[in-house]
Amino acid sequence: MKEIFEAIKKSAIRIRYAIENDDTGYSQNQNTTGDVQLKLDIKSDLIIEEELSQIASVKELASEEKEHIEKIHEDGKYLIGYDPLDGSSLVDVNLSVGSIFGIYEDDYSGKNLKASVYVVYGPRVELVIGYDGEVQLYRLDSNDKFNFIQVINLNQKGKLNSPGGTQNCWHPHHKKLIEDIFLDGYRLRYSGGMVPDLHQILLKGGGLFSYPATSDNEKGKLRMTFEVFPFAQIFELAGGEAIDGERRLLDLTPLHIHDTTPCFFGSNEEIKKVKSAYVN
Ligand code: F6P
Repeated sequence: MKEIFEAIKKSAIRIRYAIENDDTGYSQNQNTTGDVQLKLDIKSDLIIEEELSQIASVKELASEEKEHIEKIHEDGKYLIGYDPLDGSSLVDVNLSVGSIFGIYEDDYSGKNLKASVYVVYGPRVELVIGYDGEVQLYRLDSNDKFNFIQVINLNQKGKLNSPGGTQNCWHPHHKKLIEDIFLDGYRLRYSGGMVPDLHQILLKGGGLFSYPATSDNEKGKLRMTFEVFPFAQIFELAGGEAIDGERRLLDLTPLHIHDTTPCFFGSNEEIKKVKSAYVN
């Protein structure tokens, strides 16, 4: 596992350089969900593939940017699902973006997720690892070294609310949940990038990030394998919870690696509110 974390660190340093220096324009390609790929999406994907495929314990790579799984080392142990540059359309307005990695064994189900990592490319580059019972934060220094900063733990209750999804497509019970949370004194924090939005909640002690089922998208938008499961594991390890409204996200199994799910990540108090709004 350690060598996988090291390869992710190397990828992050290369991707940071590409974000700072490369063209932010669109390519001619579309990914599986029909999004037109940015040149930076393709480059980040290539960088990660190059770095991770050198690791003997990596058996397969499943990228959010590719339709099919890539076989790497037949005798490898780990299957890695990753989103190379989540929120990439925010680069041209200079907002933070991220890379997300889920390291699985046997299949891409929540229960077989062994470790999770994400990288935030913001004013500073930070990397978070959820593994071995805890969540650790690292920060990149000017010598391209990631230094350990702290263990991340959520409070029982937070102050931030990050409600995703097109608001005029929210179901009435979801609308009421979000309104009640604001009436409770929570403050709006939503950049449109899952990585910085969830990172903010983790580092500010708690809150709620939601991306619900909507009338235009009953299965939500965020993908289980590449985005949802890694953050679900990190939230649980930090003492919070992650559910789809009713069920624990890590109990889900995608039928296809690109499957999406409604999702709620938060500290305990906020998830209690979600359950009472969603479970009849
Ligand atoms: O998965 C892509 C993504 O950009 C996430 O990072 C983010 O949370 C979400 O989409 C934002 O979606 P919307 O623009 O619908 O709020």
